[in-house]
Amino acid sequence: MNILLKEIANYYSKKIVEHGVTHHGVDWNSHESQYLRFEQLTKVINSDETFSINDLGCGYGALFDYLLMRYEDFKYYGCDISDDMIKAANIRNAKYSNAHFNLSAELAETADYSVASGIFNVRLGFSNDKWNEYLETTLNLLNSRSRKGFSFNCLTIYSETDKMHDYLYYANPCVIFDFCKRNYSRDVALLHDYGLYEFTIIVRKHQ
Ligand SMILES: C[S@@+](CC[C@H](N)C(=O)[O-])C[C@H]1O[C@@H](n2cnc3c(N)ncnc32)[C@H](O)[C@@H]1O
Repeated sequence: MNILLKEIANYYSKKIVEHGVTHHGVDWNSHESQYLRFEQLTKVINSDETFSINDLGCGYGALFDYLLMRYEDFKYYGCDISDDMIKAANIRNAKYSNAHFNLSAELAETADYSVASGIFNVRLGFSNDKWNEYLETTLNLLNSRSRKGFSFNCLTIYSETDKMHDYLYYANPCVIFDFCKRNYSRDVALLHDYGLYEFTIIVRKHQ
């Protein structure tokens, strides 16, 4: 694992050790906002079909709970760079044969869909250049491991200035939209209308 991912993994491991298996343990302000993000991200799924899904930066596997409540037949592959997150995810989901968790920044499976919630937000002291490079590399990974589409979220530059922090990364939604449109698919949606200081991008691929 490179130094950037090691530092990010340490940051999140501390969170779950401190707060346990809760929204605070994955650094979200509330359970409601965590689920509101899932609601946006899962718009990439065509719900009529059986599907497989990657969750890059799965934390303790909260998205798996969300999917269980809404879909009957799916295979879930969560991966995370924090050992503590993956341990927690394995313990709480041990009884589900369709849930798989992997300690990694790589996606082992090519799935129908991939999602990533919250992995581009905390950049600690890394520069904009370094973080942009990481963002592009990670989007390429999501694209290469998704047959039908992928989705992810980022904090937005359209945030209130007095609430912004240096250790967080705020992306320009128009730039990210343009990047996805030019590099991945002609079908890209930008969702910036759900009341959080962030946006979600949905990339639908044509097979
Ligand atoms: C904000 S938390 C969100 C967790 C989960 N997605 C959720 O919404 O409940 C971000 C998680 O992504 C993990 N993470 C960050 N960057 C990652 C990367 N490049 N690859 C895999 N996991 C990553 C962190 O360790 C952390 O558990």
